Amino acid sequence: MSKILVSGVKPTGRPHIGNYFGAMKQFVELQNKYESRIFVANLHALTTVQNKEELLRSSREIVLDFLGIGLDPQKTTLYYQSDVPHVAELAWIFESITTIPYLMRAHAFKDAEAKNKEINAGVFNYPLLMAADILVHDADVVPVGQDQKQHLEITRDTAEKFNRTFGETFKLPEPLILESVATVPGTDGQKMSKSYNNIIPLFATDEEIESAVMSIVTDSSSDVPRNVYAIHSLVRDKSSLDKLYEEKKGKYKELKEALIGDLQQFIGPMRELRSEWAARPDEVDKFISEGGMRMREVVHKKMVDVRNKVGLIHHE
Ligand code: TYM
Repeated sequence: MSKILVSGVKPTGRPHIGNYFGAMKQFVELQNKYESRIFVANLHALTTVQNKEELLRSSREIVLDFLGIGLDPQKTTLYYQSDVPHVAELAWIFESITTIPYLMRAHAFKDAEAKNKEINAGVFNYPLLMAADILVHDADVVPVGQDQKQHLEITRDTAEKFNRTFGETFKLPEPLILESVATVPGTDGQKMSKSYNNIIPLFATDEEIESAVMSIVTDSSSDVPRNVYAIHSLVRDKSSLDKLYEEKKGKYKELKEALIGDLQQFIGPMRELRSEWAARPDEVDKFISEGGMRMREVVHKKMVDVRNKVGLIHHE
């Protein structure tokens, strides 16, 4: 039996090339090797998106994004997290065996707290819903970017804690983090993130690519514009990249133009594929709902086992 791969992306606006190189590209590359299950993390998005139309729109868009990067619905099961509501039940069970001080150590919570944000309970419990997403599948591997590393540690800790308390039930999953692209920088050199306003959208138009690249912050004290080079290295191999940056030493504008060209070439075909799928909405709707149905059945079996283990009465 092939090993199981699980991962999700939050529908909170357009995905960017950081999401792609850090995680989504791996989904495509690994879909032949694993039994892959990729979901739209719409329950997680609720902690920040509290607008019905926006959530619906972003959720549908992400499905097209998955298809645009080359996920093949015949190979990868695509589904909405909310179509498998068992994960919310499992998250509750995990919340009941996890202490507050333990969850207070989570980076995402600490960051939110440091920014003095009014933090909702969803943000606080976020890592446990994520643990449920993963553990309910008995996933072997979880491809993610570096920023999810701690969440994977929490997932493993939670599996161990449950297994210790109620008996062997959950498999411990391995994160798959690609070292070279673990944290893709944004146009300002910080981690690329929707909340920092420093992104290059994955399905950007040619004009958007141009204006995003032109906005990359450069440091005039060096011959090599570090931030431009870092992003360029995602779409061009190292030897040809180094040759180019040697030839055009100090010529920031020309280097940015080269990056624009490379990004346009790279993104163009994915944009094309995405719009082909966008023209077939009924087909897309059909397999995403079938994906949800299939996952519900698989996960239901696991939850019967979990309910039995913890002492929750179960009626078919
Ligand atoms: P999300 O939607 O924020 O991001 C999706 C994926 O993109 C990666 N990523 C990056 N990788 C490299 N460089 C960057 N600048 C960068 N920015 C984002 C993220 O690490 C992630 O892999 N909590 C998750 C969604 C989720 C999930 C799960 C993932 C919910 N349940 C279960 C895996 C398994 C999230 O918010 O990802």
